[in-house]
Amino acid sequence: MASQMEFDLTERILLHLESCEEVDTLHLAQQFGIEHQKIVGAMKSIQAHGELLKAEALTHKSLQLTDEGQSVALHGSHEAIIYAAVPDEGGIAQADLLASGGCNAKLGFSKAMSQGWLWLDKSVQPPLIRRRVANIVDHVQEQLLQLQLAGGEAQLSAPDVTDYKKRKLLQELSIKSFRLSKGPEFATTLTKLETDLTMDMLATGQWQQLKFKAYNFDALGASPMRGQLHPLLKVRTEFRQIFLEMGFSEMATNNYVEASFWNFDALFQPQQHPARDAHDTFFIKQPAQCGELPEDYVRRVQTVHSVGGYGSLGYGYEWQLAEAQKNLLRTHTTAVSARILFQLANRAGGFKPAKYFSIDKVFRNETLDATHLAEFHQVEGVIADVGLTLGDLIGTLHEFFCKLGITRLEFKPAYNPYTEPSMEIFCYHPGLAKWIEVGNSGVFRPELLLPMGLPKDVNVIAWGLSLERPTMIKYGINNIRDLVGPKVDLKMVEDGPICRLDHV
Ligand code: PHE
Repeated sequence: MASQMEFDLTERILLHLESCEEVDTLHLAQQFGIEHQKIVGAMKSIQAHGELLKAEALTHKSLQLTDEGQSVALHGSHEAIIYAAVPDEGGIAQADLLASGGCNAKLGFSKAMSQGWLWLDKSVQPPLIRRRVANIVDHVQEQLLQLQLAGGEAQLSAPDVTDYKKRKLLQELSIKSFRLSKGPEFATTLTKLETDLTMDMLATGQWQQLKFKAYNFDALGASPMRGQLHPLLKVRTEFRQIFLEMGFSEMATNNYVEASFWNFDALFQPQQHPARDAHDTFFIKQPAQCGELPEDYVRRVQTVHSVGGYGSLGYGYEWQLAEAQKNLLRTHTTAVSARILFQLANRAGGFKPAKYFSIDKVFRNETLDATHLAEFHQVEGVIADVGLTLGDLIGTLHEFFCKLGITRLEFKPAYNPYTEPSMEIFCYHPGLAKWIEVGNSGVFRPELLLPMGLPKDVNVIAWGLSLERPTMIKYGINNIRDLVGPKVDLKMVEDGPICRLDHV
C-alpha cells in the first residue's frame, strides 16, 4: 500500500514535469498538498532509476514568528498595549502604568515614548504619563500579521527584520529544496527496478535487459534480532568464573532424571526419610525404574544403611533395592557429586585429590510462593583430599564468598543426612542491612565415602547454594515469578545489565 502511494507520487511528479520546464519541490509540496519530505523522498526514488531528472539544491530563507511574535500578531505590540493602558483623558503615574503592563511593560513603555505616542507631564506632582496622540497605528502588529498570512514571505525592510529579530518576534529559517527539470533519460513512467539478482536471471541472460536498484550505502541498518542472556545465566557465568579461578572442574549435570539411589541412598539418606516422599519429590512414572546400578557398590550401600559398618551402626532397617531404583527429578545437585565421587574412588590410577563444581537445575515438589518455585538452580562445590577438616571448609567458604564480594560470614550448626558436621552459611548483606542465609555445607560422612571405595584418610567437604537468591538480590527482583516462568518481562531480560559481582 505504502509503496503503491510512493509510486503514484513519483509518476505525479514526472507528469507534472512533462508540462513545465522546471519546478521547485517546495511548490510541488504546496500544490499537491503533500509534505515536502515526501516529495524529496519520491524525487530520490526517481533518481534511483537513472537520469530522469536533474535536481539542483536550493536554500530558501523564510521568516517565522516566534511564540512571542504570534502573541504580538494577535494582541498588538508591547508599545500599543502600553499606549492603550494610558487613559485618553488625564494620565497615569509611571509606576502604575508599568505595573499594569505585564512582563514586557518596560520595553513597551520605552518604545511608546520613542515613537512619540506618550509624554511625561512633570508639571503635576507626582508626574503623570499622558497620551501625546489621539490614536496610533500599530505597524509592528500589522507587519507581523501580514507575514503570518503570507507564509513567511512578505516584504519587510531589512532594518525592521533586524529589529524584530532582536526583539525575538521573528526567527529566520532556511529551508532546503530542489529545483527539478527534465534529465537526459526523462520519461513519465518508471520501470520497476530489480532488487535481487537471481539464478534465473543469470541462466536466461535476462539480467542484461533489466535495471537494478543501486545499493543505498547510507541506509541505516535494521538492528538484528538477537538472543539475550537471562539474568540467571549471567550470574551463573560469574559463579562459574569464580570456581574456575579457584581451580575447580565442572561436573556434567546433563541428567535431570536421576535414580533415587544416587539422589538419596548413595548419600546415606534412609529410605523412610520424609524428603523421599511424593510430597517433596517428583517421581517419574515412565520409566519408573532406573537402569543398571554398580552391583557391588549397591550391596555396600545396602549394608551400611541396614546394619552399618565402617564404624557406623547404620539405620537398622530393611533396605529395598526397588526403592533405590525409583526414578525421580533430582532434588539436589549433590546426586551428581555422589556419582563423580564414586568415579573418583574407582579411578584407574587410584585416588587423586579433586575439586569439582556444578551449577544446574534441581526440582522439588514445593508449595509455590513469592520466593519458591518447583524448580531452581543449585551451585555446588566439592573438594576431596586427604585430611581435610572443618577448618578447610570454613576457609574455602571465606575465599569463595569473598570473590562474590561477601566478606562477613557466619555459620550455624545444621543437619544433613550426608554431612557431619553440617553448617548453614549466613552472610551479612550491607544493602539489605541484615544477615541472610546463603547456603548449606558440611563434611561428607564416612558412611557415604567408604562404601564408594575412597581411601580411609580422604575427606570430602562440600557446600551448596541457590542461584536464584543471589540473582534476585543482584537484580533487585522480589518475586521469583518475575525472574522465572511465563510472567517474565522480556524487556527486563533484554535491558538487564551484565552481572559484575564485586570481586574482592
Ligand atoms: N544438597 C544440599 C541442599 O540441597 C546442599 C549441600 C551440598 C549441603 C553439599 C552440604 C553439602 O541444600
